[in-house]
Amino acid sequence: MSGGFEELDTRSKTERLAELAEQAKSCSACSLSRTRTNVVFGVGNPEAPLVIIGEGPGQNEDSTGIPFVGRSGILLDECLKVCGITRKHIYICNVIRCRACQYEAGRLQNRPPTAEEAKACQPWLEQTLQIIRPLVILCLGSPSANAIIHRNFRMSQERGQWYESKYARHTMASWHPAYILRMEGEAYSNAKNDLINDIEQARKRVILARKEPPKTSLFDE
Ligand code: URA
Repeated sequence: MSGGFEELDTRSKTERLAELAEQAKSCSACSLSRTRTNVVFGVGNPEAPLVIIGEGPGQNEDSTGIPFVGRSGILLDECLKVCGITRKHIYICNVIRCRACQYEAGRLQNRPPTAEEAKACQPWLEQTLQIIRPLVILCLGSPSANAIIHRNFRMSQERGQWYESKYARHTMASWHPAYILRMEGEAYSNAKNDLINDIEQARKRVILARKEPPKTSLFDE
């Protein structure tokens, strides 16, 4: 800061995100850094008006370094496609950027992030969102809604509702694809339709939000 004006960073969002992703590769803020294969930073368009935030990388993501490439990712891509959206239109990242897992019945199984892990990873999420400055955020699953919307978010009651968050004027949460994949029959179809509807609402919200006057850090309270 000088004379009340912020220093202007003239680098593109792509350059700034790439630098941040590079820094994240050596993060050791929590113990997940000891077991990860790759930091799964994020993927997509740094200029995207819509950011989707999941929970955390699973095994496939850990081994490739790319978010949502396993079964959940296939379902997410399918739902996005129904709304005419591809990964080039959006940016996708997670609450935590290293895989959280534990041994169950002799196998390594994914598990939700602990509050400490989410907190340790929060600076990467915040800086990512500060660079992208999305118009709309869609959180997938409770850990994401808790980190972005509010700490006591109840998916069964608050899914599909719009909130203003610290990170975007328009923020909503929907079912996580992994949760949908655990369902069967009508419950599966209903939850999948909810996710498709919520993505479509997010797409329409981007169109509306583009017509709103922009907030700038210099001249707005
Ligand atoms: N689930 C998530 O929340 N994120 C991923 O990247 C993959 C699965």
